[in-house]
Amino acid sequence: MARKLLVTSALPYSNGPIHIGHLAGAYLPADIFVRYQRMAGNEVVFICGADEHGVPIIIAAQQQGVTPQQLVDKYYVLNRDTFARCNIIFDNFSRTSLPIHHKTAQEFFLALHKKKKLVEKTEQQLYCPKDRMFLADRYVLGTCRVCGNENARGDQCEKCGSWLEPLLLKDPRCAICGTKPVVAETKHWYLPMGQFQAKLEAWLAEKHEWKDNVMNYCKGWFTEGLKDRAITRDYDWGVPVPLPEARGKVLYVWFDAPIGYISSTKEWAARQGDAELWKEYWCNPDCEIIHFIGKDNIVFHAIFWPAMLMEVGGYNLPAQIPANEFLNIDGRKISTSQNYAVWVNEYVEKYPVDVLRYTLAANLPETKDADFSWKVLQACNNDELADVLGNFVNRTLTFVQRYFEGVIPPAGALSGADNAVLAEVEKLGHEAGELINMYRLRAALGKVMEVARVGNRYFDASQPWATRKTHPKKCGTTMHVCCQVIRSVAAFLQPFVPETSDRMWRMLGLAGTPGKVRWNKACKPGDIAGTKLGGVEILFKKLEDADIQPEIDRLQAVVSRMEAAAQAAERARIMESAPGGAGVKGDSGAAGDDAEGKTKGQISIEEFGAVDLRVAKVVAAERVPKANKLLKLTLAVGEETRQVVAGIAQYYEPTVLVGKLVVVVANLKPAMVRGIESQGMVLAVEDGQGLALLTVDRDVAPGSKVK
Ligand code: 2FM
Ligand code: ZN
Repeated sequence: MARKLLVTSALPYSNGPIHIGHLAGAYLPADIFVRYQRMAGNEVVFICGADEHGVPIIIAAQQQGVTPQQLVDKYYVLNRDTFARCNIIFDNFSRTSLPIHHKTAQEFFLALHKKKKLVEKTEQQLYCPKDRMFLADRYVLGTCRVCGNENARGDQCEKCGSWLEPLLLKDPRCAICGTKPVVAETKHWYLPMGQFQAKLEAWLAEKHEWKDNVMNYCKGWFTEGLKDRAITRDYDWGVPVPLPEARGKVLYVWFDAPIGYISSTKEWAARQGDAELWKEYWCNPDCEIIHFIGKDNIVFHAIFWPAMLMEVGGYNLPAQIPANEFLNIDGRKISTSQNYAVWVNEYVEKYPVDVLRYTLAANLPETKDADFSWKVLQACNNDELADVLGNFVNRTLTFVQRYFEGVIPPAGALSGADNAVLAEVEKLGHEAGELINMYRLRAALGKVMEVARVGNRYFDASQPWATRKTHPKKCGTTMHVCCQVIRSVAAFLQPFVPETSDRMWRMLGLAGTPGKVRWNKACKPGDIAGTKLGGVEILFKKLEDADIQPEIDRLQAVVSRMEAAAQAAERARIMESAPGGAGVKGDSGAAGDDAEGKTKGQISIEEFGAVDLRVAKVVAAERVPKANKLLKLTLAVGEETRQVVAGIAQYYEPTVLVGKLVVVVANLKPAMVRGIESQGMVLAVEDGQGLALLTVDRDVAPGSKVK
């Protein structure tokens, strides 16, 4: 019996363009799955939309100096169009800022409120006195108590995945201005998740076929014990809380976002001319809801969202949550803020979409993090798409073009080898379908490409170039079988590389589109004899090194910048932890072999010349708040004024330094020390008694070069 499926992809935030990690996580796998299910004869509605609320949007808008509405308008269009360019075709791509969503989310909240499922609490929360706002979620940064990550966000630690609360962070700071927040009282509505835990655990215990990563994450949270979770916030951007006493409050983004799946389905239903049709998917138990997400969304989809659905009642719960792990680039985590990413909207301007779809599908992070690199993409294109698939299609079709007047010859008597190939294609097609059903898309693509390999081996073994002269009928049969293989592989490729699949179909001269062919039928030979080919083109052009070098260079430049920043931060850390010892050092001293009075290895005069040492005059000095070793010095270096953070506070009163001439490394890359940019390093000597700044023994002009 045909299955009825509602498939969703995580709603991307409208705060920036999507990158290949997003694509590999929640969008491409869903699109592959949906295309296959349709070919398998199942009924599917594929839903997505833009997540337009929450702190990521508010912060990005603030940083860009635009309103949240302006920001989401821009990225809604960009991301919607990028998905379309990638042939990721949703039945509906909605927006959570639309009235239909606000209404749906408010009704959801009110249903829970009416059923007395919510807990109202006046609680202490972090408040930034400078920005005059309560700080929740990503508005607070601090140190994660689980893994020590110093940049954990108030809602979740990106490093270890722990679900956090702002008040649990060590050394919290405002994400906007860096100020240490104070604690103030505010009233909010909570989902008492602890009360729902037993029911959730029992429900999840039945999900034997769910992926291990999802189950393990959930078990971890259950072991820790679920806590009350606030579902309202004190912001002015979001879905207003629909209670008179909650003016100025909005729903928490992770409360409203998953409801976006429902409102997007409602929008789709209205477009079908039947506003009630959404219930067929969300309320009729015959329908399976399948959420494709990335691993950072597991807790929200597998625990928080099902609890919401259960407690409101009358809705289908997720039947599957095939969460993917992360995609890295050259072994490094993608970083949106550092621009360490391959942006999909930029990619599609320069390279073929199917090459990216193929490369990602062949390297999906299904069970563990996976790696993308431009070299892998080049190899996928050249060695697999061009040399295996393209070669098979091209050699077959040019042969038919040349020796059979471009018409697919009929099959004569089939030999054992001919039958064996057709049987192998059928078997591989069924196996690929089964693997897609099990969400093992990488392996499924492997089976599909094996069909093309089988075709190539068969072509070689049948030697049509020889039989053409000796056994023309047999040659015709060989070419017929090769065209059958092309037809099957074209159809099998439809979920993965739809444009290529369509092109192959057209080149074979077949009517309709492969997406409309039933998978079962694609596994078996079709009625193709006598079809006039639709023209032969090269399917994939080879990608030369020069084609991808600019991309490699750009990423490398980002890596160099990130590494320099990490080194600077490390240097700053060392500066703050002032070790003992003697020798000439920067500030209060980098640790190292100079501490024992040994000198270091030799350097050339040129190497020494690379260090720009200057005399500088201290024009101001002050303590760095809450850093007992640090002083902030303002230095006159010639015409220039520099600010330098130095680890000398234990040895010098700031006032005595003013007017002193010191020696500064003037061409050191700036480093951030406690949020202050240090634009150089003053030299100092440290011995057993403490630290002494290097100075000059007569009055010289600040800025003079030290040689
Ligand atoms: O992580 C994200 O990008 C979220 N915007 C995903 C939301 S999924 C759903 F709940 F809407
Ligand atoms: Zn602040």
